[in-house]
Amino acid sequence: MPDLFLAWHEALEKRHLAALTFQEVRRSVQALSSIYVENRERLDSGAVLNGAGKRAAFAMFYAPLHFLLVREIVRSLDAARSLPPTILDLGCGTGSAGAAWALESEPRPRILGIDRNTWALEEARWTYSKLGLQGTVRSADVRSTRIPADTAVIAAFTINELDDESRARLLGQFLKTVSRGAPVLIIEPIARRLTSWWESWAASFKAVGGRDDRWRFNIDLPERLKLMDKAAGLDHREITGRALWAGPGN
Ligand SMILES: C[S@@+](CC[C@H](N)C(=O)[O-])C[C@H]1O[C@@H](n2cnc3c(N)ncnc32)[C@H](O)[C@@H]1O
Repeated sequence: MPDLFLAWHEALEKRHLAALTFQEVRRSVQALSSIYVENRERLDSGAVLNGAGKRAAFAMFYAPLHFLLVREIVRSLDAARSLPPTILDLGCGTGSAGAAWALESEPRPRILGIDRNTWALEEARWTYSKLGLQGTVRSADVRSTRIPADTAVIAAFTINELDDESRARLLGQFLKTVSRGAPVLIIEPIARRLTSWWESWAASFKAVGGRDDRWRFNIDLPERLKLMDKAAGLDHREITGRALWAGPGN
């Protein structure tokens, strides 16, 4: 079966290099990388997703890396087994995390992507359609989202952007989702220093039979992604992330 990821990545490059040069995107990848590294604790994607260059860098460089990380984590956790009919992707950005999960499952679940950034939602819509997924997007604040029954939940690189109070409310919803028998997957970077919340969330997930892992994968990136990685002075031969998972079979 052709790897849909590769076709999506090629299409992403064509889409974003239509308006910008490789070097312009490369500079924006470097700018995003230094925002990620230097502003670890107060990262707000409002500052990340402004401007054509940074948007292109996020869409054609970071989003595919997030896709690959989520796919590897899902495979390692066997997290795509007997999924409910819908995946809710909180802070979906350009759609990569929910799409990576949905593509691992047969039959393919529908995706509902929620974000407050309208540019990201347009990109997510495009991602779902390019990958042949049934996905819809909704402009909303994840802090006030209610999680319907029979819905799997993913939040990749989103929860750390929220305030303590919203995080506490969402944790309650996630635990309720798990108690109803639907899975929840939370992903954040290993490198970023997460303020106190991760450890207490990990304890809550473990208390309902879930797990807390740090993942490292050696991935052969597509040539063009490798080229951008190298040109920007980065090294993603190893991709990493931490994940909280609670679902059937853990
Ligand atoms: C770092 S990006 C991650 C995007 C995507 N999940 C991925 O893995 O590539 C975080 C996303 O969360 C969204 N976000 C942050 N706070 C939000 C909120 N309160 N409500 C809705 N979306 C939010 C941002 O707009 C951004 O698209």
